[in-house]
Amino acid sequence: TQYEHVLTETRGRVGIITLHRPKALNALDEALMNDVVDAARAFDVDAGIGAIVLTGSERAFAAGADIREMAGKSFVDLTTQGIFGRWDEFTAVRTPIVAAVAGYALGGGCELAMMCDFIIAADTATFGQPEITLGVIPGMGGSQRLTRAIGKSKAMDLVLTGRSIDAEEADRIGLVARVVPADALLDEAVGAAERIASMSLPVAIAAKDAVNTAFETTLDEGLRTERRLFAGCFALDDRAEGMAAFSEKRRANFTHR
Ligand code: HXC
Repeated sequence: TQYEHVLTETRGRVGIITLHRPKALNALDEALMNDVVDAARAFDVDAGIGAIVLTGSERAFAAGADIREMAGKSFVDLTTQGIFGRWDEFTAVRTPIVAAVAGYALGGGCELAMMCDFIIAADTATFGQPEITLGVIPGMGGSQRLTRAIGKSKAMDLVLTGRSIDAEEADRIGLVARVVPADALLDEAVGAAERIASMSLPVAIAAKDAVNTAFETTLDEGLRTERRLFAGCFALDDRAEGMAAFSEKRRANFTHR
């Protein structure tokens, strides 16, 4: 499929979505959101794809929601039509998604990166929630996902001051999983995605589901969910294959991938 604001490509079992609205530093307007969501859903239902990488340009992952588009909205627009409601479809994607972030990931850009399963950052990456400088607050999950990711004090610092942090600080506070030199970013992210895609896909989806449960609910409920998902793995031939491969000292050759 051809999209206007994203480029898509596949490398083996990895689907790559590249935000491509260079004139506006990948600012997220409705058209870009629709393309990202449609591309991610298309990869999600593609049996040949076992992991997705979402990336931007060298200069910007995304510089936030499109401020020009947002400027024309009213309270009534936001309450009756919502804005950016389709991002819920992005977080409903089952296939694991790795964000590969270089340059600016500000406002909605930072929030979109946090909607992915984990973030690999280039050493050039800048993260922040500058919404308060525009007279608004984060609106695509930033006040919630950032707080759960880095804790109250640090999230308050970023959301109340609107200041940006570099990749090194983002790594130190646990917002990102890895930092790599900018020229190695895509290879590193695709490498991680290839590794995920070599696993049994239903097991990878169960693993994602289990970790997300820790993010979304209580410890008790999370432990019960984990137990059920763990038991569910035993319904798969891939579970038998994985354990047989260990005994036979060979690499597992999973069926469901
Ligand atoms: C619309 C944007 C944009 C944005 C950049 N551009 N960010 N357009 N919305 N969020 C456009 C600029 O207007 C400019 O277009 C072009 O991209 C290049 O940007 P410059 O500002 O010239 O680049 P530079 O000087 O390098 O500065 C980069 C920057 C700055 C620091 C990232 O652009 C910036 O501060 N952007 C806004 C960041 C921000 O506040 N994001 C949060 C948005 S609120 P022209 O046509 O002039 O060349 C948000 C809310 C989410 O995200 C919740 C929604 C529900």
